Amino acid sequence: MGTAMLTVPPAAPGGVAHQRPAGLAFAPVAGDIDEADRIFDHTLSQYRSPFGTLIEHLRHYRGKRLRPALLLLTAKALGKVTPHHHTLAAAVEMIHTATLVHDDVLDEAELRRHIPTVNSGWGNKVSILLGDMLFTHAFHLTSTVDRRACEIIGEATNRVCAGELRQVTERGNLNLSEADYFAVIDGKTAALTECCGRLGALFAGASDETVERLAGFGRNLGLAFQIADDLLDLVGSEEAAGKTLGTDLEQQKLTLPVIHCLNRLPAAEAEVLRGAIRDAEPGLGRRVLAALEKTQSLAYARRRAEEIARTARHDLECLPRGECRAILEAMTDWSIKREK
Ligand code: IPE
Ligand code: IPE
Ligand code: MG
Ligand code: MG
Repeated sequence: MGTAMLTVPPAAPGGVAHQRPAGLAFAPVAGDIDEADRIFDHTLSQYRSPFGTLIEHLRHYRGKRLRPALLLLTAKALGKVTPHHHTLAAAVEMIHTATLVHDDVLDEAELRRHIPTVNSGWGNKVSILLGDMLFTHAFHLTSTVDRRACEIIGEATNRVCAGELRQVTERGNLNLSEADYFAVIDGKTAALTECCGRLGALFAGASDETVERLAGFGRNLGLAFQIADDLLDLVGSEEAAGKTLGTDLEQQKLTLPVIHCLNRLPAAEAEVLRGAIRDAEPGLGRRVLAALEKTQSLAYARRRAEEIARTARHDLECLPRGECRAILEAMTDWSIKREK
C-alpha cells in the first residue's frame, strides 16, 4: 500500500502509444487521436523556453486517451469527425490531465502513468500552477469552437471540481453513504465522460435525443470506470496500473466496497474497523481486505459496476451498428475489467 518501495521507471522515450489500453483498439480514430495530441502539444510548446523540462515531462505524461477516444468514436459512429472534434478532444484531455496533476497533490501520489508525478518532481506549488494552466488553456482552446462547446465544457468542469472538493471535505467521514459516494464520482469522473459523449454527438449533428443518450452513455461509463478504479486502489497492482495505489484508505476516502463492508459488518466490528482506519493502524490494508472478504464487498462493487456498464451498453443502441459502436461497447466491458 505504501509507496516508499516503489521503483520508478524512466520516462518512456518519445512515443507513448503503449499507454493505450491493451485489448482495446482505437484504430478507426487513431489518426484523430494523434491530431488531438498534436493540438495539445502545440498549445504547450510556447512554454518550452521558460519551463523546458516541465513541458518535456508532459510529453511523456500520456495516459490511455480514453476521453478523446470516447468523443471521437462517438462522432465517427455518427459518420463524421470534424476539426472541432479534434480541438474538443484536446481540450477534454487537457482538463483530465489538469485534474490528475491536482489530484496527485491531494493524494500525495508519487507515480502516475508509469512515471513520477509532477508533485514528486517539482513540488506542490508547481503542480497547482501547471494544473491551472492546463485548465485555462483548455477553456481558451474551447473558445475557438463556439459558445455551446464553452458551456458544455464549463459545466462539466464545474461538476468535476465540485466532486473533487466534496471528496476532500468528506475526507475522514467514516459514515459516508453510498449516495454520497455516487455524488462524488458522478462529479469527479462521470461529468467529463458524459461531456465527451455529448460533444462527440452534438458536433456530429445528431438529434437532441441521440445527444442525450450518448451523454448518458458517457456518464454511466464514467461511473463504472471509477468504481473499477476504486477496486484497483484496494486490490490492484501498482506495476500494472502505473500509479500509486492505496491512497483512498490512506487519505480516509471511503469508496463503494468499504462503505458496503462497514454497513454489513456487525456494528461493533464496524466501529473497530472505523477506528483502525481513523488511526491508520498497522496492518490496516490486510485487515480491510479480510473484512471485505467477510462481507463479500468486492463482489458487490463489481456487480454494481457491471450493472452500470450494462446500462451504458444499452445507451449505445441509438448508434448505427459498425466498428465504432462495437469498440464503444467493448469499452464498457474493458472499463470494469481493466488492470490499469
Ligand atoms: C484516471 O483516469 C482518473 C480516474 C478517473 C480514475 P485514467 O485511468 O483515464 O487516466 P489516464 O489518462 O489513462 O492516465
Ligand atoms: C479520480 O480519482 C480523480 C479525478 C477524477 C480527478 P482517483 O484519485 O481515484 O484517481 P487516481 O486513482 O488517482 O487516478
Ligand atoms: Mg488520486
Ligand atoms: Mg483511484
